[in-house]
This record gives sequence, structure tokens and C-alpha cells, in this order.
Amino acid sequence: MTQDELKQAVARAALAHVVEGEIVGVGTGSTANFFIAELAALGQRIRGAVASSEATRQRLEEHGISVVDLNHVDRLPVYVDGADEIDHALQMIKGGGGALTREKIVAAVAAKFVCIADQSKLVPVLGRFPLPVEVIPMALNHVSRQLARLGGEPRLREGCITDNGNLIVDLHGLEIADAVDLERRINQIVGVVTNGLFACRPADICLLATPGGVKTLVAA
Ligand code: A5P
Repeated sequence: MTQDELKQAVARAALAHVVEGEIVGVGTGSTANFFIAELAALGQRIRGAVASSEATRQRLEEHGISVVDLNHVDRLPVYVDGADEIDHALQMIKGGGGALTREKIVAAVAAKFVCIADQSKLVPVLGRFPLPVEVIPMALNHVSRQLARLGGEPRLREGCITDNGNLIVDLHGLEIADAVDLERRINQIVGVVTNGLFACRPADICLLATPGGVKTLVAA
């Protein structure tokens, strides 16, 4: 199976978690894009979707799915999104597409986070994928110095402006032993909007695409 076939299979499997008659939260990235295509087939059976980025909002609308402002939603049963890395505790690194802040906001509101990933994303220890950090532009040098003190190598993502008008610094070379602690410590740095560790609020389940079928992982 190709990686795209794996992504399509896991996107289709996620439909089983969508609650009919409700709003669904939709993530960002290539796996989420396959999910949007699957979601479109449900038509009027969902009330609409909350988008985790401008790119996802546009794609949802192109597929005829009505997009609802998160502030107009009083409950969100499910959020479906991909990950750059996920471990056996279902903690993740996200933000490879730069949408980490809005993704984290939608995930915080959702009752259930369903991570959809192909098997290449499952890792024993988070950190090989550079950790994205969204930074207020005037704080770039300050934040980069503070991030370097945590042991990684911060690199500005060239040419990237987030949907919120901010910068992304990718922190390379980490081996993350305590993801909850690191997520909190980075978020304490003045000038950081948020970072791409989803450890304080991990996924509730992970649908993992393998050549042998889609497996369901729950936190170890
Ligand atoms: C977007 O900012 C990310 O968090 C994505 O969810 C993540 O990068 C997964 O993307 P792919 O499905 O394209 O690998």
C-alpha cells in the first residue's frame, strides 16, 4: 500500500467516530484532507465543521461542508486530526503544517480527540520530528535564546507566517522524556503562543493505518 492509500484508509475509518447531527472538528494536513473528502460524503448528516486552519476552512467549503465559528459552538463531540509523531501514551508532536495553535484550541474544546495517522508516525520517544513553536514576531530572538537553553537547536521556519500572523521556530534535536513538563515549560516563555506538543491534552484514541488494516490504539 502507498502512504496515500494508508491515509485514505484511516480517514475512512474515522467516519465511525463522527456523531450524526453534530458539528465535527477537523484538523489540518494531508491526512486530514483525506478525512475532509470522506466527510463530504455524509452530506446533511452532520451539522457542519469547525476548521483548525484557513487551509482546512477553504477545503471544507470546496467540499460543500458548512464551516462554523468555534465561538458559535456549545459542544464539539469529536475532533479528527493527524500528527507528525505520536507515542504509545497518545501524546503527539503537531504543527508540521504550522496550524498548531488553532489545532490545540479545537482539541481543547472537543470531548474526544481522534488522531488519524499512518504507521510511520508512531514512535517510541517524541522528538525526532522538530518541535514547532509559534512565536510573536517581536519576541523571536528572546524566545530562540530561551529555547536553546532547553537543549534543542531552534531554527526559524523561513517564509512561514501562521494564520494568526506569527512565526514558527522549529526546535531540532530533542529527545523528549517528559512531554507534559516540556509542553508547560515552553508555554511559560514570554512571547510563545503555544508549542506543538499535545501532551497535556493527548489524543483519546489513535487510528493507525498499517498494510494489515487500521488498528485502534488507546493510551498505554
Ligand atoms: C498541521 O499543523 C499538523 O499538525 C498536521 O496535523 C500534522 O503535520 C500531520 O500532517 P500530515 O497528515 O500531512 O502528515
